[in-house]
Amino acid sequence: MKVAFAGKGGSGKTTVSGTTARVLADEGFDVIAIDGDANPNLGTTLGLPRESFDSGSPLTRDLLRVNGDNRGGSVSTLAKPLEEIISEHSILAPGGITLLTMGRAEQAGSGCMCSNHAAVRVIIREIDDSDKAVVLDMEASPEHMTRASTEHVEHMLLVAEAYFKSLETARRYHRLATDLGIPNVSVVANKVQPGDDNVVAEYCKAHGFDLIASIPNEPKFAEAERLGAAPFDVAPESPGVLAIRGLVKELTG
Ligand SMILES: Nc1ncnc2c1ncn2[C@@H]1O[C@H](COP(=O)(O)OP(=O)(O)OP(=O)(O)O)[C@@H](O)[C@H]1O
Ligand SMILES: [Mg+2]
Repeated sequence: MKVAFAGKGGSGKTTVSGTTARVLADEGFDVIAIDGDANPNLGTTLGLPRESFDSGSPLTRDLLRVNGDNRGGSVSTLAKPLEEIISEHSILAPGGITLLTMGRAEQAGSGCMCSNHAAVRVIIREIDDSDKAVVLDMEASPEHMTRASTEHVEHMLLVAEAYFKSLETARRYHRLATDLGIPNVSVVANKVQPGDDNVVAEYCKAHGFDLIASIPNEPKFAEAERLGAAPFDVAPESPGVLAIRGLVKELTG
């Protein structure tokens, strides 16, 4: 299974994707988590300590070999075996999760990260997911779809809160994901509070979108955030983590 999380800034992509990765690992999956944000935070949500954050080297274009094809275009392949790339660039996270980090915007004026996006696209394509789960946490910008780095995922989950701009972002990204040919595009309602529990469901109904899960507003997630720890470790039985277990059940059938 290959699943990506997208949505408006702050909607909860990293919290939900990182916890999804921990739940999948807990259920016995061999998980590869990819932090696709140039401001990477997925390691914290997976439960990595601060001193590990800067390890794991970025996924750059030198990992790709680009050749011309017979229609005047180009085709990218990996410059070395996938296993070698993973062992050289990943770090081991709690739950036995393999964490890959797309890159870090470390220097002002260092230019765009399109080469990192290209490397992520080909790496996702090349991973054999017959015995693995791949979880991709995306940045808020739609670049992952305009640069097609998420082209080869099987599920695109659009994390949305119950307010107009968040839902509109989900609607725009739904179209981009559908244009990319991603077979399953669904919405995850997040930070759901009493009184707004129908807002996302009604928006999905009006637009013909699949609502795959509803995750409550979870005070324990704020507590985990203050501690710089994983929600999965701080409150494994909280309603928020249990709702993400429900999401994993939907994904894995
Ligand atoms: N279900 C929830 N209940 C309560 N707080 C939540 C929930 N989900 C996420 N949060 C909180 O919302 C904030 C933003 O979450 P997170 O960093 O996961 O969002 P994001 O979409 O990845 O943000 P960015 O666009 O910056 O990458 C964090 O403080 C997080 O703890
Ligand atoms: Mg994030």
